[in-house]
Amino acid sequence: MTTTPEAVAAAERCTPEFRRDPHAFYAHLRTAAPVCPMRPPHGNETYLITRYDDARAALSDPRLSKDMYGAMDAYRRIFGDSSVALDDNMLNSDAPKHTRLRRMVNSAFTPRRVEALRPRIEEIVQSLLDACPAREPVDLLPAFAFPLPIIVICDLLGVPPEDRARMQHLSTTVAQTGFGAEAKRAQQQAEEDLHAYFTHLITAKRERPGDDLLSALIAVRDHDDALTENELVSTAFLLMFAGHKTTAYLIGNAVHHLLSHPAQLRALRENPELTRAAVEELVRYDGSVESATFRYATEDVEYSGTLIPKGALVQIAISSANRDPQKFDSPDELDVMRPGNAQDAHLGFGHGSHYCLGAPLARLETQLALTRLFDRFPRMALADPAAGPRWLEVPFPAFRGLAELPVVLDPAE
Ligand code: HEM
Repeated sequence: MTTTPEAVAAAERCTPEFRRDPHAFYAHLRTAAPVCPMRPPHGNETYLITRYDDARAALSDPRLSKDMYGAMDAYRRIFGDSSVALDDNMLNSDAPKHTRLRRMVNSAFTPRRVEALRPRIEEIVQSLLDACPAREPVDLLPAFAFPLPIIVICDLLGVPPEDRARMQHLSTTVAQTGFGAEAKRAQQQAEEDLHAYFTHLITAKRERPGDDLLSALIAVRDHDDALTENELVSTAFLLMFAGHKTTAYLIGNAVHHLLSHPAQLRALRENPELTRAAVEELVRYDGSVESATFRYATEDVEYSGTLIPKGALVQIAISSANRDPQKFDSPDELDVMRPGNAQDAHLGFGHGSHYCLGAPLARLETQLALTRLFDRFPRMALADPAAGPRWLEVPFPAFRGLAELPVVLDPAE
């Protein structure tokens, strides 16, 4: 593999400097090395795609596989051994297995089914806001942005309220570990705990089914033999994992950027009908999924004149594609009135067959969170605007989110 300055830089996506401002760095890569060979710590030959057109094409390119069993050596080097038990789900498979696994849960996430959750989501939003201290600094991530999607997804799956905190803790450990031996051990332990937890929960629900998604999936598994037991556990894990961090970080990023762009916030508050479009713009501008999950080339493929050899891993930088000036005018500006910011213009929820299953739910949660928060606390402000945001410095750049979001909801006049 060549070692260009860009390759070195791409390998440094984990450094604190990069984490603070990935957008400037991606802008450089889009011009200098749009398909950039990387040297990630796991050692697999990897290419980073940063342009919008390439990213969109790559997300639905059948030559770029997501079947983890086809790239098992690489997969184990990145994620370790134990994760396989939890990862036997739609996100790590190609058609026809992907189609079968996705079909099982698809109906729970249609816009119509999700819309029926609106009153319950409203209720959760209001009760979380009721519990927030208004006159003193509060970190909005643990107080509001995280509990909302955790409660929603736990309710949907049928995870009892007393287990929510544990779910959040274990998923955080799974997501935030690095490549060192200790980090890997902690990750594997969390995965084993999650596997054991869902296995027990499934046994309990087999005996006493509830009115929840997990009970419905168990019925499908047991009556139609359409899912293996491992696929069932892995699907429950995927929904739990994908269903809360992503949304929590998006709510955090959105609140931070709106408070930092008062004219945009004012436009939104004066025109609540902009909320839908504003959420799309916020996903484009600084969405919570920075990179799509791994793909690998099943044959030689070429993007922007660069050959990606068969067997290489491919990372698609969604955050970069969403700021590509070839696609979006003035991409580094947040503009809640951006013309034509339709749901499918940005790639914040992916594209193609793996397009985010939970997008309707994430959209509704974020829309309600922002509307109710700014309605209720119109004078809300960052607790220390001069301090600047503290972004997550995870060693594995898949999420784009804040480490904390201190605000004062109702500052004194
Ligand atoms: C703001 C919140 C969210 C964002 C930004 C987001 C983003 C994404 C992206 C980019 C992908 C595609 C990954 C790839 O192709 O490699 C994806 C897939 C997925 N998301 Fe989301 N997501 C969000 C919320 C949710 C929620 C709330 C759920 C579930 C309740 C969910 C469930 C899934 C699932 C199951 C997949 C895999 C789909 C497949 O493989 O067919 N996501 N998401």
